[in-house]
Amino acid sequence: MARSGTVAVIGAGFYGSTTAQRLAEYDLFDTVVLTDIIEGRPEGLALDMNQSRPVEGFETRIVGQTTGQDGSGYEAIAGSDIVVITAGLSRKPGMSRMDLIEVNARIVRQVAENVARHAPDAVVIVVSNPLDEMTALTQIATGFPRHRVMGQAGMLDTARFTSFVVEELAVPVSSVRTLTLGSHGDTMVPVPSACTVNGTPLTDLLPADKIEALVTRTRNGGAEVLALLKTGSAYYAPSAAAARMARAVREDSGAVLPVCAWVDGEYGISGVYLGVTAELGRQGVRRVVHTELTDSELAELRKAADAVRAKQADVHHL
Ligand code: APR
Repeated sequence: MARSGTVAVIGAGFYGSTTAQRLAEYDLFDTVVLTDIIEGRPEGLALDMNQSRPVEGFETRIVGQTTGQDGSGYEAIAGSDIVVITAGLSRKPGMSRMDLIEVNARIVRQVAENVARHAPDAVVIVVSNPLDEMTALTQIATGFPRHRVMGQAGMLDTARFTSFVVEELAVPVSSVRTLTLGSHGDTMVPVPSACTVNGTPLTDLLPADKIEALVTRTRNGGAEVLALLKTGSAYYAPSAAAARMARAVREDSGAVLPVCAWVDGEYGISGVYLGVTAELGRQGVRRVVHTELTDSELAELRKAADAVRAKQADVHHL
């Protein structure tokens, strides 16, 4: 595919900078724009990343831009096809994602308003936490059609689940398929009925209590990394997930991925941004793809939707 277009990454912390690097190394975009409010940080990172081009052999140019609280500097994202929002605080050990809601809502609202002003046609991928709420807030603050705003969570939860199954069974990564739906947090809904190893149902390979233990580890996957790092949360797997979503949009690929998307009728659930499988393309979410669920998985997904819907209603006031 010919290289073209611009992707912007807002927030040049750990998550944002690794996402920008991955996107640049795909060599699919003309330009990756990286912004932050810390004076000089995005410019410095861009300079550094550009100097890796001769070694890694990619042509995409990285542009760093400091932005101000007044919206200055956002001209740099003009014309972006895709914007990834990573701005916001990350958790400290012992914090839940929900503890970040007020402070990150202020940041994400300000960012989203500037995105709407300067990149009005972009597809937006949100990663700031708490994820489901920040995705809903971004749609409200941009006023973009719902299919053009989505969040990254399911790709990461699924990757963690897959990786734990790989370790447990000592099988190749490529042989394992797992799925998680619902929200990024306590109401994550694992879908063991859709998990396979070389096409064999996971439920035939592991006892229920072992699967449950892997699910619990997945649900706490972010906290486990955080507890080890002590400062800053995970970013290698998260950035891989966000970059992969941006790639599906850029390539208009129709890839079906687990993402946080607007659900309106599927699974008997309506009016909420929720983790589901969706087909991605140039316009963002082409459609939510229905996955066959067992009765108990469906009941759990509906319960998750109710919990997330209630929280998302609050973001209007933040
Ligand atoms: N505009 C742009 N950037 C901002 C703004 C803003 N209004 N406010 C904060 N930032 C920047 C910070 O200056 C910092 O560089 O966001 C960056 C956040 O980086 P980290 O603290 O390293 O956090 P990171 O691990 O990258 O996580 C970012 O993703 O997973 C979520 O919970 C996590 O909400 C957090 C986000």
